[in-house]
Amino acid sequence: MTKTYKSVPVRSYEITPKETFLSRRDFIKAAGVVAGSVALAACAPKAGETTDSAMPDVTHTAGTDELGNPTNSFDQITNYNNFYEFSTNKEAVASLARDFNPTPWTVEVTGMVNNPKTYGIEDLLSMFTQEERIYRLRCVEAWSMVIPWNGFPLASLLNEVEPTSDAKYVRFESVYRPEEMKGQSSPFYPWPYQEGLRIDEAMNDLAILATGLYGEMMPNQDGAPIRLVVPWKYGFKSIKSIVKIELTDQMPSTLWSTVAPNEYGFYANVNPNVDHPRWSQASERRIGELSRRETLMFNGYGDQVAYLYEGMDLKENY
Ligand code: MTE
Repeated sequence: MTKTYKSVPVRSYEITPKETFLSRRDFIKAAGVVAGSVALAACAPKAGETTDSAMPDVTHTAGTDELGNPTNSFDQITNYNNFYEFSTNKEAVASLARDFNPTPWTVEVTGMVNNPKTYGIEDLLSMFTQEERIYRLRCVEAWSMVIPWNGFPLASLLNEVEPTSDAKYVRFESVYRPEEMKGQSSPFYPWPYQEGLRIDEAMNDLAILATGLYGEMMPNQDGAPIRLVVPWKYGFKSIKSIVKIELTDQMPSTLWSTVAPNEYGFYANVNPNVDHPRWSQASERRIGELSRRETLMFNGYGDQVAYLYEGMDLKENY
């Protein structure tokens, strides 16, 4: 992200219809293979591991977001990724992440809470109803997609652990596995990837912990097995492959605000009126489209989130 944004031509995967993928899914289902092994070979359970709770049924219903924007194809969403633990090359992440093994997986929820607990991914899949949320994802680099996520509100998990009245922020940490994630050998980044939200932002219903997309388990390259999605903020806030969530009274430091504090702030709310120091944020390129679109304030979610920032300077929101 510290590189200057360069637009890329339309690739073949940008026009591959999702039906191609879905017909493969139907075939595998018909063949009696457990759903949990569908998305990627790397998600396949090992001998002896249970798959019963691995893939709750979430039906992919609508083909558009609430503004009528069509969803990007499964191929687009899984072949153009920012996941620096694997590579800074968006089109190389999918293949480099193929052998990453997200099973078994635990998420530790700790810090200023009454009920600290470590949850297995299977607990999180069974405790909370997994719903579909079709959200726009706007990267700070000025490209965007529309993604049908599956997941559950972050607030549902936070309510389980009961934050104390001292808790003001939520800090998230990604997995650190340099042997499986070659990008983590890079000394330029302070691994593991970290992010944070103010607690009232975290409690907003739009903030979800996503466990899949298109009704399938989360593909490795999109942050298997569980990631944050905060659609009114630039994509770098939506931290992938989470292993730890900590409630704290201190504003957490984040990977990007540590690397380039003048370019990536803590709030990082999508704002077409506040440019990145090196490029405009007024418009964006939707992956799969040729002409640019205007970027919407709060990525179009102002009705749900603007109240969180009343009285704050717009620059502070960046
Ligand atoms: N999370 C981790 N752990 N590592 C990353 O490099 N990249 C972020 C975010 N979450 C990133 C991450 C950025 S910059 C973006 S735009 C989104 O993930 C991209 O999500 P996607 O690849 O699923 O579209």
